[in-house]
Amino acid sequence: MIVAAGSGQRLAAGMPKALVALHGRPLLAWALDAFAGHPDIDSVVVVAPPDAVATVEDCAGGRAAVVAGGPSRQASVELGLAALGPGVGLVLVHDAARPLLPAWVISAVVAALRAGEQAVIPVLPVADTIKRVDGTGQVTATLDRTELRAVQTPQGFARAALVAAHRTARERSLTEVTDDAGLLEALGVPVRTVPGAELCFKITTPYDLRLAHSAARELDAMTQAGGPT
Ligand code: CTP
Ligand code: MG
Repeated sequence: MIVAAGSGQRLAAGMPKALVALHGRPLLAWALDAFAGHPDIDSVVVVAPPDAVATVEDCAGGRAAVVAGGPSRQASVELGLAALGPGVGLVLVHDAARPLLPAWVISAVVAALRAGEQAVIPVLPVADTIKRVDGTGQVTATLDRTELRAVQTPQGFARAALVAAHRTARERSLTEVTDDAGLLEALGVPVRTVPGAELCFKITTPYDLRLAHSAARELDAMTQAGGPT
């Protein structure tokens, strides 16, 4: 499932973030290529901005089912879950805002799920020192960086566990959850990590988009030269 229903307020591109061009193709098309062309992926659902479903369908070109999203990421994931086919047992949830997704990350998440994990997240070590700061700007603690990880998508789940976690969140009136694995963690489900990819950074601001342009240009050049992808 690729969640692409956000409006992209912080990117402020005048259109939904998933439709913004990245090196000649909409952002969404990059993630879609990664999933639709992957041997471990049987079907793809894209959750689209409610007023751009037709445009997203054009972009998907028959490679994915497209459904309208909701007002929050959490609501969009729930709407995507409701659209999954009956035979689907394992689900990967990916942000369209992370367009540069190497195939090996998908493979690693799926492999961990097939080995019996219920929830799997790709993570990276944290390069910066992280401090806890109070409301006045005063440092209150320095966290041990060796214990910290930055979390990416695609996050992988046993479908039943993810559906149950979202139902519980709704019952508890939690409505702005941005981390699906956090929901399962709160319910006591063990969450397993696999290595993430630096390339799979999230595009949030115009600066991130500029970085992604450079990376995408390099990737395309490598692909055309027949090199590694
Ligand atoms: N998302 C979604 N439905 C929403 C909000 C977010 O499907 N109602 C998706 C976005 O499309 C994105 C992912 O969740 O792929 C991560 O969200 P974020 O990076 O915050 O994207 P936006 O919400 O679009 O950006 P902003 O918060 O700046 O408006
Ligand atoms: Mg958002």
